[in-house]
Amino acid sequence: MTINLGLLNDVQVRFLCPADLEEVKRLCRVWFPIEYPDVWYDEITSSTRFFSLAATFNKNIIGLLVAEVKTKSLCNKEDAGILSFRFGDDATLAYILSIGVVQEYRRHGIGSLLLDSLLCHLTTPERQNCKAVYLHVLTTNFAAMQFYEKRRFTQFRYLPLYYAIKGTHRDGFSYVLYINGGEPPWTFIYPFIILVHSG
Ligand SMILES: CC(C)(COP(=O)(O)OP(=O)(O)OC[C@H]1O[C@@H](n2cnc3c(N)ncnc32)[C@H](O)[C@@H]1OP(=O)(O)O)[C@@H](O)C(=O)NCCC(=O)NCCS
Repeated sequence: MTINLGLLNDVQVRFLCPADLEEVKRLCRVWFPIEYPDVWYDEITSSTRFFSLAATFNKNIIGLLVAEVKTKSLCNKEDAGILSFRFGDDATLAYILSIGVVQEYRRHGIGSLLLDSLLCHLTTPERQNCKAVYLHVLTTNFAAMQFYEKRRFTQFRYLPLYYAIKGTHRDGFSYVLYINGGEPPWTFIYPFIILVHSG
């Protein structure tokens, strides 16, 4: 079943709050194959460490996005190379921990609305040191990959056996979108090095 939303204007975006905890848990269990611990749900609905958004329609949550901004040094090893070395230790990256939309409301721009809200927040003058937005996705999650690619994310790395899901290891990809002048390693210097070495 697909719901006709009519106007996207009827959808509101707000921050998650502790009262959302049980609903968020229920939705994530439907959307994601990964089991998150209870403390994770507590944190994403109450801690200011996370940028946690809900898209609501008639006061019901129909979409969620949870992101966290961290410095380069706090990125996992497999994500450490996302940003060019020309950015110092004060550069930050935003990691999307989860994004999901209730099945019946998909393909109505809700995921994009949530992502745009995050991007608006990250591109304000005071957050110019945030140079990239990145995430991990199962290699079998074609809908999500199409979504990210439509939104100009590019595949960064293949992550073999990255996920442990119900006792099975599954492959993932990382995806990245550079913002605020961010760029991957070598973008400008690499061609120059090639010229020097071949010259
Ligand atoms: C990924 C997800 C959040 C996208 O949300 P959404 O609200 O449907 O996304 P949008 O409507 O903003 O889609 C924007 C564009 O992305 C692309 N896209 C989104 N879903 C797609 C799909 N299933 N197949 C192909 N392209 C898709 C389309 O280009 C779409 O634009 P269009 O509808 O005008 O063609 C949603 O599919 C979802 O909740 N999936 C389950 C949870 C999940 O896997 N999350 C990601 C974990 S990494």
